[in-house]
Amino acid sequence: MNFELNEEQLAVRQAARDFAQNECLPGVIERDEHQKFPKEQLTKLAELGFLGMMVDPKYGGSGMDTISYVLAMEEISKIDASVSVAVSVNNSLVCWGLETYGNEAQKEKYLKPLAQGMKDGELCIGAFLLSEPEAGSDATSQRTTAIDKGDHYVLNGTKNWITNGNSASYYLVIAQTDVAKGHKGINAFIVEKNWKGVVVGAKENKMGIRGSDTHSILFNDVIVPKENRIGEDGFGFTFAMKTLAGGRIGIASQALGIASGAYELALKYSKERKAFGKEINQHQAIAFKLADMATEIEAARLLCMKAAWEKDQHLDYALSGSIAKVFASEVAMKTTVEAVQVHGGYGYVKEYHVERLMRDAKITQIYEGTSEVNRIVISRSVLK
Ligand code: CAA
Repeated sequence: MNFELNEEQLAVRQAARDFAQNECLPGVIERDEHQKFPKEQLTKLAELGFLGMMVDPKYGGSGMDTISYVLAMEEISKIDASVSVAVSVNNSLVCWGLETYGNEAQKEKYLKPLAQGMKDGELCIGAFLLSEPEAGSDATSQRTTAIDKGDHYVLNGTKNWITNGNSASYYLVIAQTDVAKGHKGINAFIVEKNWKGVVVGAKENKMGIRGSDTHSILFNDVIVPKENRIGEDGFGFTFAMKTLAGGRIGIASQALGIASGAYELALKYSKERKAFGKEINQHQAIAFKLADMATEIEAARLLCMKAAWEKDQHLDYALSGSIAKVFASEVAMKTTVEAVQVHGGYGYVKEYHVERLMRDAKITQIYEGTSEVNRIVISRSVLK
């Protein structure tokens, strides 16, 4: 087994690390405080080819592997998880879903600008609209309907907690087309944000990832042409599950990055701060915390890499993606809490960054399947 990264992967990691330091770190505290969407950062990431990392170059992507994507996600998330969540949703959910299941016309029209992250010189990203007020974890209980009218569908309903809700140009919307068929009566559609009847609802005032724009989206009699349905009739729930399986690798890597960012700050601080006549890391109470952080982060990283490797080898990665997400998000929560503790009183103020990372960590246990939902996925596999 070879754990060595190749030259391209090392170069991607270095580029992401430099970008995070030079472009994300300045202003990250202000963006968090004022809930400012990181448009400038994402526009530059589009120029670097990081918004369609794994997409075939013939559709405007960078043609990289999933390992490179994990490396980039970790580096960006160390500094700004509000940037990395937009990167993750666009890459893993939107671009991957379209490239894998879209037809040629859909790829030409929608995937190309989304993978390039640009259209007409402006940032172009997507959003994934599955969650509803009463269908978060229980994703088969869709209330949004798309009624078949021959050459088009009429879409009505409300989606909640939508990442990139206001900033996206295109939405992938999951909706019920035939209630009697349950999850086999669900479809996925490409909907343009500026279509008549699409309304961007309230912005959520969140605990963490405050730079990310999370909105509800309302559909009032929106006409969706039939050619915008993804896949065969009734494919929508499978589409959502398959897409989310890869999305969970992205969020696991985000959690990994949040944890390693907090750990690096705690390690640095522990070398600067003296108490009782020596650096605080010379006290076993702190040294053991750092040892536990390093151990758990390494384990989380290996789980993310294994899931990414399986995806690159075209193996079934749904189980390993859920395992990586459950573990890495718990490591993120635990590590950030401990990193604040290592910093003592300084950890509780914004300038030291760890309190933000602690707030950002929590969402990784909630979105793209709560830890509980991912344990459903894992336990079903273990018990079958
Ligand atoms: N691949 C393919 N098919 C799958 C699948 C997968 N990974 N998982 C399930 N399916 C299929 C099943 O085989 C089944 O099909 P058949 O009946 O034909 O056999 C069908 O889907 C229904 O599956 P289940 O019976 O397992 O469905 P369930 O209702 O019991 O629950 C669940 C499944 C895993 C809990 C699912 O509802 C789920 O994943 N929920 C969480 C949803 C989620 O992750 N939301 C995140 C929103 S997006 C987001 O957060 C983005 C962001 O902002 C960052």
